[in-house]
Amino acid sequence: MKTLVLVFHPDLNGQSRINAALAKAAGELEDVTVRDEYALYPDGKIDVAAEQAAVEAADRVVFQFPLYWLSSPALLKTWEDEVLQHGWAYGSDGHAFEGTEFGVAVSAGSPEEAYQTDGANKFTIDQILVPFEATSNYVGATWVKPFVTYSAFGLSDEALAESVENYKKFLAK
Ligand SMILES: Cc1cc2nc3c(=O)[nH]c(=O)nc-3n(C[C@H](O)[C@H](O)[C@H](O)COP(=O)(O)O)c2cc1C
Repeated sequence: MKTLVLVFHPDLNGQSRINAALAKAAGELEDVTVRDEYALYPDGKIDVAAEQAAVEAADRVVFQFPLYWLSSPALLKTWEDEVLQHGWAYGSDGHAFEGTEFGVAVSAGSPEEAYQTDGANKFTIDQILVPFEATSNYVGATWVKPFVTYSAFGLSDEALAESVENYKKFLAK
């Protein structure tokens, strides 16, 4: 199974700790391709043909990103708006994601307790990620349960190492 991990972090090689560690581990796995989207498109101008070709070569596509305002960094939205074209991703001739697994790997500053209906954020992470699940459904992909690293602020080295190991298992599944 060929897995494509599209990483959307505005500073993966600088400020990032969690996503940098996860992306590094992912890149060392066999049959996993990692694309650092902000590094590829620092001006925000996405090469749509290159992105579509990368998706077409994969059996599973994972969007990896830090949660920003209960959603994704902005380039991910631009990616969706520009790459998920009619006649390619959807519509009667749009079959690019059929037979493809699709999921997200997110890191969140807040702890897991905050992502409960009776917690600080009042919504679970699955609820917050519904737009991605619904998009997966819309393009005919098979949704994979999200991979989440909580408590990104001040996460211990041990907890980060555990998350990296779990991410490798998630990607190898
Ligand atoms: C602009 C911005 C918005 C953020 N919004 C959220 C949020 O809504 N929920 C949350 O749990 N963490 C939020 N965070 C924290 C990030 O998710 C956290 O810093 C990130 O996951 C850490 O990963 P990194 O080490 O790869 O940067 C936000 C951070 C920034 C910079």
